[in-house]
Amino acid sequence: MTARGYAPVVRDRLVRFLGPARAGKLKGTRLYALTRVRTGRRPESNWSDPAVDCAHPEWWHATDLDSTELEVTELVVGFIRALQPEFVVETGTAFGQTARAIGRALKKNGHGHLVTLEPDPVRVRQARAVTAGLPVEVVQLGSLDYTPTAPIDFAWFDSLIELRVEEFRRFLPFMHSGTVVGFHDTAPRFGLAPQLAELEAQGEIRAMRLPTPRGVMFAQPARSS
Ligand SMILES: C[S@@+](CC[C@H](N)C(=O)[O-])C[C@H]1O[C@@H](n2cnc3c(N)ncnc32)[C@H](O)[C@@H]1O
Repeated sequence: MTARGYAPVVRDRLVRFLGPARAGKLKGTRLYALTRVRTGRRPESNWSDPAVDCAHPEWWHATDLDSTELEVTELVVGFIRALQPEFVVETGTAFGQTARAIGRALKKNGHGHLVTLEPDPVRVRQARAVTAGLPVEVVQLGSLDYTPTAPIDFAWFDSLIELRVEEFRRFLPFMHSGTVVGFHDTAPRFGLAPQLAELEAQGEIRAMRLPTPRGVMFAQPARSS
């Protein structure tokens, strides 16, 4: 059974386990989070179809459609280890998968901290639980309402797709020539690629696109403060 087919079965079992009255009191996102934990990692082909630039989505894995492909989270961790950033910002914490991975990498580095931004209170609670003890601050706030408190060395833009470019512009004054940013969900089907191509054409970023199932682009600001 695929994850698409499996998740509802897990959800039904959870509802039976909790009883309809308790389950009814749980917000949709809480039940979804519990379901996610129970379904575990699945091939990404459950959420991404083969594409011209990524013919084998089944070679990647994810736990749900919101959380980043696990192999891409590993790539973000590689940047954290290789670049040794002091200050990292993530937009869109969701269930804390990448925040936790970044936090663990920063802890291994022995310096640096992450601020991760998420407006959903249920997700914030879960992310705080999975990042406890790590140099991670989960802030309950929309990304565009956040003002960084230090120069940004690395940013992972992963909130709503329509906010990605605005987030880059919002945080650009806090970036420097060595800042590296990652834009998630750049695959053609998400519609973000043309906006990023425009940023590149206007000479605002130098970018590299990677053909992963949901697509990811790493970039450096071409004009920083
Ligand atoms: C694709 S998920 C993030 C996945 C996560 N970064 C990971 O690697 O597992 C997008 C998240 O952005 C959150 N979100 C929605 N609006 C937002 C906003 N204005 N600012 C920050 N996050 C937002 C959603 O609630 C959702 O949890």
